[in-house]
Amino acid sequence: MDKVKFTQMKDGDKEDYDFLTEHEVEYTKGTADRLLKALVELDEGLSGYKITRLGHSVQSATRAWRDGADVGWVVSALLHDIGDIYAPYNHDEYAATILRPFVREQCAWVVEKHGDFQMLYYGQHVGGNPDKRDTYKAHPYFNDCADFCERWDQSSFDPEYDTLPIEFFAPMVREVFARKPYDPDVIRPDVREPMQNAKRAAERA
Ligand SMILES: [Fe+2]
Ligand SMILES: [Fe+2]
Repeated sequence: MDKVKFTQMKDGDKEDYDFLTEHEVEYTKGTADRLLKALVELDEGLSGYKITRLGHSVQSATRAWRDGADVGWVVSALLHDIGDIYAPYNHDEYAATILRPFVREQCAWVVEKHGDFQMLYYGQHVGGNPDKRDTYKAHPYFNDCADFCERWDQSSFDPEYDTLPIEFFAPMVREVFARKPYDPDVIRPDVREPMQNAKRAAERA
């Protein structure tokens, strides 16, 4: 069998769907590498800044790494703007959707809301509301998203910063996307891991 027998999904039998499940499992093994490739495509997007979107993404991840953040945070920082390619008006939600099955709820929430929080830094210049993030003031991850934006996102447009190469982060992306999707031990609702870990930061310096 190299193709299913059906032309309408409702006519498929167990053999067809077992066959497709096998294919899907094989295909999903390539998710990490497809994402890394897409990230490199970011390099062609959005001009005008002093660094490219890829440069910004890798710089965000580098700052997260140097803060001693765990791998979920680092990969979330790396991919937080990947939605810019296909979803310029809700790039934050797009990136969060990609990450959500494989990272802590905390990280996915922060990525999903980072667009609103970033308004703090430029909303006043574009007719937006800088205080948009205040909607989430009572949310348990409010401070995490505020810190994510302050330390890793809004700060990462510096062409002089000593940014690590994307290859450095590839094994971390592969590790995260090889996790069992929606594993409760990974998602850990309401658990807040710190974004800065002095001991780990010192080891990485
Ligand atoms: Fe963004
Ligand atoms: Fe960003």
